[in-house]
Amino acid sequence: MSTMQATLPDDFFFGAALSGPQTEGAWQSGGKLENLWDRWSNLDLSAFHNRVGSYAGNDMTRKAAEDFETFASLGFSSARTSIQWSRLMDANGKVNPEGAAYYHRLFAAAREAGVEPFVNLYHFDLPAYLFDRGGWESREVVEAYAAYATAAFTEFGSEIEHWFTFNEPIVEPEMRYEHGAWYPFLTDFARARTVQYGISLAHALAVNSFRDLQARGVVRPDAQIGLINCFTPPYTKENPSPADLEAVRMTDGLCNRWWLDLVTKGTLPQDVIDTLAERGVELPTRPGDAEILAQGKVDWLGFNYYHPARVQAPEHGTDEHGNPVFAREYVWPDAVMNESRGWEIYPKGIYDFAKTMQRDYPDLEWFVSENGIGIEEDRAERDDAGRIMDASYRVPFVRDHLRWIAQAIEEGAKCRGYHYWGAIDCWSWNNAYKNRYGFVEVDLAHDYRRLPKQSSDWIRQVAKTHIVD
Ligand code: FCB
Repeated sequence: MSTMQATLPDDFFFGAALSGPQTEGAWQSGGKLENLWDRWSNLDLSAFHNRVGSYAGNDMTRKAAEDFETFASLGFSSARTSIQWSRLMDANGKVNPEGAAYYHRLFAAAREAGVEPFVNLYHFDLPAYLFDRGGWESREVVEAYAAYATAAFTEFGSEIEHWFTFNEPIVEPEMRYEHGAWYPFLTDFARARTVQYGISLAHALAVNSFRDLQARGVVRPDAQIGLINCFTPPYTKENPSPADLEAVRMTDGLCNRWWLDLVTKGTLPQDVIDTLAERGVELPTRPGDAEILAQGKVDWLGFNYYHPARVQAPEHGTDEHGNPVFAREYVWPDAVMNESRGWEIYPKGIYDFAKTMQRDYPDLEWFVSENGIGIEEDRAERDDAGRIMDASYRVPFVRDHLRWIAQAIEEGAKCRGYHYWGAIDCWSWNNAYKNRYGFVEVDLAHDYRRLPKQSSDWIRQVAKTHIVD
């Protein structure tokens, strides 16, 4: 790729990515129920950086109008956030009128500022009472999600054009059920796959309901539905062994092809299911499931990209919990790291994903639905106006990714836009406010006051001109 100036197409869009649980705050008002992040915060605040639990958000509940104005001033034409299931629905599965009113106001504030709201239905935030009924392992919860999605499409169907069923559906199976990292801290590979399967059914049921409501005129005719995932491209070492390539196949199979096949073909990848079965992991299938999954085809995709996966053959086929192991990390000696987050920075990964899409799923449109760099406390100097001088690290990160996107589009990739994650600083799960992503600072010491950083001038210029310099 040349490092020369690149130009993005005129109809390429820029925007912000956010989520309900990471921005709203107001966790106990408006009839909101406890979600799993609130539950974990209530159980053990010390699990969160500086003891800042899920309650914080970034105060967007009060500052939405200001935030959408800010996005518009940056040249962003859209912003994705999520509805919190625990705010929209009550514990009897009925719409909570205060929750519905909150989201109507939120979407209206976006429109008022000239920003198109993209709406996602789920961002790792299961209502706690549904976890107590079995979470994603339970068909009752899968059905409850379908009912929630139907209620959301009915409530907002005439307003919203861009819908998504899930953000990063691979993350909860891994973090909550397999790696023991997030509440409820399980290390059970087979249960993680049951959760993954339950989420897949839930996705397909929601798409089915969307199509039905659209046919009946409840959802607007121009509305589209998609899925967002971190389709992290897996790489391995140079001169890999067959066992290394197997590690790539299964990593790619579980994290990427699983979802890509679901949303383009309405099936799950048979080679992955066969390998799981050979290792004693059976999915809890029921008659009729194939027909449900067949409904899962979407109109377009969101690709969240922060870092590549590098894998190699595992040392042992089984871990200390008796789980099958298909891969282990490969540390690439040339890796450039974002030390704050421990994530490798590899902008070309975005281009490699684009190539995979062109080769394997050529008809599907997509956009980069998250990308960004979180730096611990953004510890840079401030200029005379008090703005954080972050341009030296935030600008090259975004610029390099945008250049690879421009290159891919020139070669025919169907990438339609770019959303920057946490364009205004927000709360990040366990890390809370440790790593800052924003072009705009949130000052926790002064009532969540917003203050643009130096990088905001650069992104504004790019978003308005489409020239990546
Ligand atoms: C992604 C999540 C998002 C945010 C970024 C930094 O994996 O989708 O909520 O926390 O990481």
